[in-house]
Amino acid sequence: MEFSIKSGKPEKQRNDCVIVGVYESGKLSHAAQSIDAVSDGLINAVLKRGDMDGKLGSTLLLQSVGGIHAERVLLAGLGKHDELSEKGFRQALIASVKALAKTGANDVASFLVEADVLNADDKKQDATWKISQTVEAVNDALYRFDVMKGKKEKADKGITKGITRLEVHVAEADDNQAAKTALKDGLAVSSGVSFAKDLGNLPPNICTPTYLAEQALAMVKTHGLTVQILEREELKKLGMGSFLGVAQGSVQPPKLIVLQHLRGKKDQKPVVLVGKGITFDTGGISLKPGADMDEMKYDMCGAASVLGTFKTISEMDLPLNVIGVIPACENMPDADAIRPGDVLTSMSGQTIEVLNTDAEGRLILCDALTYVEKFDPSAVIDIATLTGACVIALGHHASAVFSNQDRLAKEILSAGETALDRAWHMPMWEEYQSQLDSNFADIANIGGRAGGSITAACFLSRFAKKYHWAHLDIAGTAWKSGKEKGSTGRPVPLLTQFLKHRAEKA
Ligand code: BES
Ligand code: MN
Ligand code: ZN
Repeated sequence: MEFSIKSGKPEKQRNDCVIVGVYESGKLSHAAQSIDAVSDGLINAVLKRGDMDGKLGSTLLLQSVGGIHAERVLLAGLGKHDELSEKGFRQALIASVKALAKTGANDVASFLVEADVLNADDKKQDATWKISQTVEAVNDALYRFDVMKGKKEKADKGITKGITRLEVHVAEADDNQAAKTALKDGLAVSSGVSFAKDLGNLPPNICTPTYLAEQALAMVKTHGLTVQILEREELKKLGMGSFLGVAQGSVQPPKLIVLQHLRGKKDQKPVVLVGKGITFDTGGISLKPGADMDEMKYDMCGAASVLGTFKTISEMDLPLNVIGVIPACENMPDADAIRPGDVLTSMSGQTIEVLNTDAEGRLILCDALTYVEKFDPSAVIDIATLTGACVIALGHHASAVFSNQDRLAKEILSAGETALDRAWHMPMWEEYQSQLDSNFADIANIGGRAGGSITAACFLSRFAKKYHWAHLDIAGTAWKSGKEKGSTGRPVPLLTQFLKHRAEKA
């Protein structure tokens, strides 16, 4: 897929298709007006006939429109005039991609950036946001995971279907350099999202801890990152008894992956991202039920989002110091596996009574959270498919944010709003902590059914006392189930926006 920035009149474009917006009221966008003017009022006539109502997400493809150079015109419904939201803008783009998916229109020009888009504060979004979002939305809609299919789909009668080139049209008056940077940023986010999706979608017999480590190492050459892989022996020396406890039930060796993107000032404290990398979660001896267990291959999506974000920020050449730490292992039942009742000693020295081996995410993250103290971080964010309870609380639309600093939580929420990758702030009050009391160790690894995602965050907070820390529970947002089963690549857009904002402030 190729993107470019262009300016010019819609009727003069020699593309396979031009996309122009129309509104519910029958009002035409500027580009639609221009085409209407040279085509004897065709668009107004079509709207009058009732074939297109301009509703958000609706589309109508017109062929051989008179007076223009392009082969087709796609009318994209933008809903009520003056009310197009950020989500709505994205929806209109996705609908356009879908409408063209089964056509022979490959080389397409979109004029949707000219539409006014209102953000949550009812302020007009600037062109750069709309350009980046166009790239991200289109790439998101075009994503396919077919590397594991034996038979590849072939082009029918040699005709390629759907968009392969998109010219994003901007007003001549717009700052072209800013537009190009916005395009480049959009591409970088897409590339990270797509990488995260691929890692999530790969089967667990291929995407093992070793495979994740290899992917990180490959980025040394392609993306100029510094990468270090810590093996079991080194983890033992560090005293990571909790992480190693989870790993001991699997024949797959655990890996602690450390990535460094140090492109900020030398003395700038780094932001540290920690990603849960359980490449398959059976539950261990506290075995999960069989239904939908395949989806536990997605239990490494936190790790995938860290790797994806590193890909993005290095492609953007973001001037910031960022470190990524990924504890990666498998959670399997085995003669050697940890049992309910076992007590593990974490790197922090705190002992943990394992009351349920299926609460393994926190057991690997806690040691990673202790490990990152050595970087003297300005902030630490961990990302994890941590609890089913989070899905019950927030469903599939928002990731949960927990933090020991409200300011950091707000910064994350705001990044999520801008990136259309939303999160919601959850409480983590002191009152919840006693649910983790253990009769036999310093802390238990589960806190009962009530507030399950909160007590999981409380568990982590015991290991994150030395720095500003936030925890993102992405159990409901990292992948989709059912017919559309597949990884979403979230929260790469949120994390990237957060880091971009930090780089601007620095
Ligand atoms: N990876 C799961 C969380 C999960 C489950 C995410 C289903 C998305 C969908 C995690 O390791 C887990 O099993 N958590 C347990 C914790 C419980 C034992 C306290 C859960 O949520 O049931
Ligand atoms: Mn589990
Ligand atoms: Zn898990």
